[in-house]
Amino acid sequence: MSQETAAPVIPEMRQPAGPSPLIGNGRSAAIEIRNLTRTYHIGGAALHALKNVSLTIDRGEYVAVVGASGSGKSTLLNILGLLDRPTEGTYRIREQDAGELTDRQRTALRNREIGFVFQEFNLLARATARRQAELPLFYAGLSRKESRRRALEALAQVGLAGRAGHRPEELSGGQRQRVAIARALVNSPSLLLADEPTGAIDTRTGEEVMALFEQRHLEGLTLVIVTHDREIAARARRIITLRDGAVISDERRPAPAAAP
Ligand SMILES: Nc1ncnc2c1ncn2[C@@H]1O[C@H](COP(=O)(O)OP(=O)(O)OP(=O)(O)O)[C@@H](O)[C@H]1O
Ligand SMILES: [Mg+2]
Repeated sequence: MSQETAAPVIPEMRQPAGPSPLIGNGRSAAIEIRNLTRTYHIGGAALHALKNVSLTIDRGEYVAVVGASGSGKSTLLNILGLLDRPTEGTYRIREQDAGELTDRQRTALRNREIGFVFQEFNLLARATARRQAELPLFYAGLSRKESRRRALEALAQVGLAGRAGHRPEELSGGQRQRVAIARALVNSPSLLLADEPTGAIDTRTGEEVMALFEQRHLEGLTLVIVTHDREIAARARRIITLRDGAVISDERRPAPAAAP
């Protein structure tokens, strides 16, 4: 009998980043939304969380979204992250009309291309930090061993190497937030959507998290960060302000001079 083992079959999903079959190859907008409206109906009353919003965000941009509580920031981010659908209007992500994708295609696109940091963390209550960070890789078809290796690497990057075996209830708020950030970055997404990523952490840790995002940004990651923090917003190249579900300003800024 032959001692040789068959070469492992590597499904397409396991291959490292490259143009996805769902995604166009050309340089283009990462995100394009047109006349987007999201309406909630509560007890017969219509609440317009987003009203006729149109935006284009190019690949590699670094954008902050600001606005008062209730202005529609999370609603917008959830739609951009393919976690919610608009009531009206279109959303194109890399030349694909999100409204025309099947649920499976949306999930595949999300797993491959989008990292999402939720305002409320959305961690699994009973899973360890390592498991939380492993899951996106598992869904993307990586082996258990490779998933574990990359999850531990991502946790180390957010300063949680020593907390890999902890469940959320055994972590502080800031540590939970960092687990959520490790989970969002572990797939090496092309688009990171972060809802108040520094909201629950101290200034120094916040600085480290932003530095980590910005390092990935320099490597090509498109960053969209919702924040209440003016200093965080000021780091972005573009600041979009929402009020009552509408864009009231969209300001581009020059890149800061390089440090000496
Ligand atoms: N699931 C929902 N059902 C009904 N109304 C909702 C729902 N989610 C959000 N809203 C409403 O939509 C509006 C926008 O909410 P959203 O969460 O987008 O605000 P936000 O800008 O993220 O606020 P915050 O800064 O407090 O997080 C709010 O008036 C909110 O009450
Ligand atoms: Mg919000």
